[in-house]
Amino acid sequence: MKTTTIYEDEVRSWIMFGRDPGKADSVIDTNQYLVTHRDRGMLVDPGGTEIFPPFLTALSNSISMDNLESIFASHQDPDIVSSLALWLGIMPDLEFYAPSTWAGFIAHFGAGRLATPIPDEGMVLPLNGSQDLRTIPSHYVHSSGQYGLYDERAKILFSSDVGAALLPPTHSEIFVQDFDSHVQYMEGFHKRWMPSNRAKNDWVRRVRELDIDIMAPQHGALFRGDDVGRFLDWFEALEVGVAA
Ligand SMILES: [Fe+2]
Ligand SMILES: [Fe+2]
Repeated sequence: MKTTTIYEDEVRSWIMFGRDPGKADSVIDTNQYLVTHRDRGMLVDPGGTEIFPPFLTALSNSISMDNLESIFASHQDPDIVSSLALWLGIMPDLEFYAPSTWAGFIAHFGAGRLATPIPDEGMVLPLNGSQDLRTIPSHYVHSSGQYGLYDERAKILFSSDVGAALLPPTHSEIFVQDFDSHVQYMEGFHKRWMPSNRAKNDWVRRVRELDIDIMAPQHGALFRGDDVGRFLDWFEALEVGVAA
């Protein structure tokens, strides 16, 4: 599994794990993220059971497991967090945050305990004393209970399945290279998996108020610089909730 540092300063880092050439073709490719603050880490959407072994191997080259503090699950899907029981099996003391609406459903992934619930309005996720990591409500933009994660310090928005692209295996780039040609890999997914134009447009309006250098989705390439605005313009104009 490929490991890419997408941000680093004296106290904070973001590392992306994905694009595993050894991944089974039957599972969709996912981006897993590790955020650290003064060497302590949070896993952002740790992924499914299928990718747990290669992710654990890659992760242990980036951080000591003793320094992992928490897991954040943006929503309930299996590609987001079906690995939960495996993580808590090796690190039972990990803090685990998930949408309040999904806590009882996510418990079916076998964690043996309930998540710390994130309320509908969102919350600050503390990491080693930091207070600048905030969940951004994105309910009904995809899942009925879903959050992005905004890092005010790094100016990164982890956007969960918003901005997701299903890239062919030949496309291994980390950042979007040519927005216009990238649209073909996003369009079908966004039309089908985003149920509400109203929720989508409200999300776009709120996200435009954030200062964002990088928008990092859970699938496909990341948006950097002007491509963040290009994505917001494209998404705002797109009619979603379309099944055909
Ligand atoms: Fe999803
Ligand atoms: Fe996903």
